[in-house]
Amino acid sequence: MRTLKPQDARRIGTLIERMSLTEKLGQLTMMAASHTVTGPQIAGHSTDDIRSGRIGNLLNLIGASAAREMQRLAVEESRLGIPLLIGLDVIHGHRTLFPTPLAEAALFDPDTWALTAREAAREAAADGINMAFAPMLDVSRDPRWGRTVEGPGESPWVGQWLAEAKVRGFQGADLAAADSLAAVAKHFCGYGAVTAGREYASVDVSDRTLLEVHMPAFAAAVRCEVAAVMPAFTDLAGIPMTAHAGMLRERLRRDLGFDGVLVSDYNAIAELIQHGVAADLIEAAALALEAGVDIDMVSGAYLKGLPVALERGLVSAAQVDEAVRRVLTLKARLGLFEDPYARGRVAQSAGAVAQRRRLAREVGARSIVLLSNRDNALPLPGATRRLALLGPLADAPAEMRGPWWCAAEPDAQVSVLEGMRAALPQAQILHASGVDIAGDDESGIAAAVELCDGADAALLCLGEAATMSGEAASRAHPGLPGRQRELAEAVLARAGARSIPVIAVLFCGRPLIVPWLAERASALLAAGFPGCEAGHALADILTGRLSPSGRTPITWPRAVGQIPLYFGQRSSGRPTDPIGPFASRYIDESNEPLFPFGHGLTYGRFTLANLRLSSQSATASDTVEVAVDVENRGGRRAQETVFLFARRLKSRVAPPVLELHGVGKITLDPGTRGILTLRLPVAQLHSLGPDLAPVLEPGAVEILVGPSADRGSLLAGRLEISA
Ligand code: GLC
Repeated sequence: MRTLKPQDARRIGTLIERMSLTEKLGQLTMMAASHTVTGPQIAGHSTDDIRSGRIGNLLNLIGASAAREMQRLAVEESRLGIPLLIGLDVIHGHRTLFPTPLAEAALFDPDTWALTAREAAREAAADGINMAFAPMLDVSRDPRWGRTVEGPGESPWVGQWLAEAKVRGFQGADLAAADSLAAVAKHFCGYGAVTAGREYASVDVSDRTLLEVHMPAFAAAVRCEVAAVMPAFTDLAGIPMTAHAGMLRERLRRDLGFDGVLVSDYNAIAELIQHGVAADLIEAAALALEAGVDIDMVSGAYLKGLPVALERGLVSAAQVDEAVRRVLTLKARLGLFEDPYARGRVAQSAGAVAQRRRLAREVGARSIVLLSNRDNALPLPGATRRLALLGPLADAPAEMRGPWWCAAEPDAQVSVLEGMRAALPQAQILHASGVDIAGDDESGIAAAVELCDGADAALLCLGEAATMSGEAASRAHPGLPGRQRELAEAVLARAGARSIPVIAVLFCGRPLIVPWLAERASALLAAGFPGCEAGHALADILTGRLSPSGRTPITWPRAVGQIPLYFGQRSSGRPTDPIGPFASRYIDESNEPLFPFGHGLTYGRFTLANLRLSSQSATASDTVEVAVDVENRGGRRAQETVFLFARRLKSRVAPPVLELHGVGKITLDPGTRGILTLRLPVAQLHSLGPDLAPVLEPGAVEILVGPSADRGSLLAGRLEISA
């Protein structure tokens, strides 16, 4: 992190000398206001605790006046006047919601990822917030896990890209600026690999997987000077992350050079008791402080347990002071000592909010992935006069928020019905939900199916409720909930009999297991949760005002039994060539995904040809240019996304069959062509040797370029790496 101003260093030293033990422990405590609920409710605390210095930080406080009053209490009515950290889960927007992170990852566009974080920071800072519990950087390859929706998807390379963009977006050019937030990279580490996709379950991965898959995004966040990191709830091979000195003090602080604040997850210190590694709050507090956790979120373990732990010699006063120093240093870097009220003073103008909503609409549209489009069912013909708009997500504005909506009001979201009516004012749009999102009532299906008669098309809006993904939302059967399949089957049958297209849109926080729908719908779109402008964003795509450009950042399995299924798997000694029964395969399911990583159609029709490398051999210090001819043979202007993969053909450690190393985009008018050039720094092709040390091994590397991780769609070249 940047060096501290001398006056701040002096101020911190003086404060620590003057602070009582209670005041020190107060700085290591973050309590929850009740403006939003993000975990089990803990016995209430009063504002007197702020005056007394027993609480030095808050979370879940919403509104500029509330934040200012709490800040005033700390600054003007406590003995030492130390300002509060005020944190909130600003995960995908604050009051103006952008797409949920997994959906936004489909843009593969770090400039936009940074921009939405910057806009969220501005809006949250205007409410007096100075810390965002984001970005969430947990790589996930398991759609059963509800928090897959919050992260970057399956690729550690995308995780790094997103980490850099989001930290820069939230923290801005100057952390002390009135519209900057302290970013919190979470949840360190490996949370996305919970056993069986079950929330909070144990994580037991190899050191190699930890270093190759789960840590790179956090390393990127640290390189960008992320202000704080939040350990995961989970245990890693039996050691809870909240008490994992090896991971926190060694891997994170010593090896990655992180010198910011470690803030526990919600009540996680007290939950060391439930993990079975602490007998009581005293031991739990001692373990967490020993591991390097600076702030106790909500549990009260530091306030209650550390005085006794100090008396018993379980921890030292120096460890307490070390943690207090880091917290005060962050507050200084946020400019809170200079002007604790700077955040919350600048109200958002109507123009700024309108502009932010326009951005949300654009990003929402770009986050939508067109998974299939049989016979060019989309875009809807301009002559569309009658549309059957069906399904439980068709008129569900509150659900469009997705999980982690925090400060966004339910009625501030645009539903599909509203968006389609605005986009097709001349059309008759007949709406029926047919079924609820969940539940077993099928009584509405018949009426819904009737609306297909005489319609030009049926638009089926299906998927999950906002609370069916996110935290505490693992699903063992990640298909369509309730009786939605029954509705879809009935609509598909009636529409088929009337020869009208059925366009199915999935609003969901994860890849859903819907091979039967992909097989039969005329077109299928993954809409994630597009945010506050959902209805307009979807209408922009369905009417052809915009061509779809989103690409899925996570593999869509055909069956739960295939999970985890991702492009970076190792070959095995018997790869899945059709060499008979003795191969890495299932006897009852294909190995192939329903949709591969990176898949997404546009309204163009792109071909790639003539892959060429700027050199056939290279060393670690070289950068190789990888060029490919791209042509749009379709009838509409569109943007193509091209992925650059590599496959090391021989290595001391069995290499993945594909590794992602670059993404490029090109927009072409119909009938035109262009050249897309991607730059590959050869050093990026290093791997972790048998000793887990980084190494760039000499030898042949395949360089592969194409529209997704589908091997059959990739052009291949060869590069010889020499020492
Ligand atoms: C929750 C989540 C974490 C969030 C925190 C505060 O339990 O695990 O991601 O930032 O508590 O709401």
